[in-house]
Amino acid sequence: RRPWRCPGRGCACAANPATLNCAKPRRGAWRPATAYEQTAARNAQGNPVSADLSSLLEANRRWAEAVKQREPGFFTRLARQQSPRYMWIGCADSRVPANEITGLDPGEVFVHRNVANIVVHSDLNALSTIQFAVEHLKVRHIIVVGHYGCAGVRAAMRGLRVGLADNWLRHLQDVRLRHRKRLEHLSPEQQEDVLCEMNVIEQVGNVALSTVIQDAWARGQPVAVHGWVYGLKDGLLKDLECTMDRPETVVQVFGHAIKRYPRAAGHDDAAETGFD
Ligand code: CO
Repeated sequence: RRPWRCPGRGCACAANPATLNCAKPRRGAWRPATAYEQTAARNAQGNPVSADLSSLLEANRRWAEAVKQREPGFFTRLARQQSPRYMWIGCADSRVPANEITGLDPGEVFVHRNVANIVVHSDLNALSTIQFAVEHLKVRHIIVVGHYGCAGVRAAMRGLRVGLADNWLRHLQDVRLRHRKRLEHLSPEQQEDVLCEMNVIEQVGNVALSTVIQDAWARGQPVAVHGWVYGLKDGLLKDLECTMDRPETVVQVFGHAIKRYPRAAGHDDAAETGFD
């Protein structure tokens, strides 16, 4: 339906349909502009906020058209059901979009993102998403993806207070504290990069130890949890080789992955227990 416009020549309404009190006679019965028409009128006048978004809506129409041209029936097929093979747990950072980075189309990856890709055992949002992915969609791979240059990791590393998120980033500070002997002898830049990687390994462990994954493995459902890190500078993903695919190996895989980050020279790794 086309937005209503006053047909009166020279009438202010013709240029600005949002003007509701035009007294000029016109064809058809007078009615006030709908909310949609008012918004459309403001957009036409160059409302800065809506104009900003109108380019997105325009791009969306072009994209949908291009997809339909390339693959007729794409949307009708997807509308019926999704059956992604992968679940992505990543940082909310705008520079790390799951589909683009991996070249996957809509329908191919199920995504959960939050600040600094953290999976906490009491986070009902993350756990519900993982449960849906595993039990209903039957994803085969869950990939926790961190990224270098993560603002959350940097804040935790430097002990910055940023507000409400401090409580969320406390989980990252716990990771840092736990592995401090493998971090403190590095330069500040190296520490941030290593903490990005360690955080991924920790979260892979958290996903693997969650009730959802433990139950899936107990049922014999094949699902593997992987850890990757993404480089903002080169656009490349790196496998941190900490894949967990059955309950017996979780602790062992975790230990091997963490022990790749050496302690300061002269520190006897073998003499200590645990992973600190
Ligand atoms: Co980040």
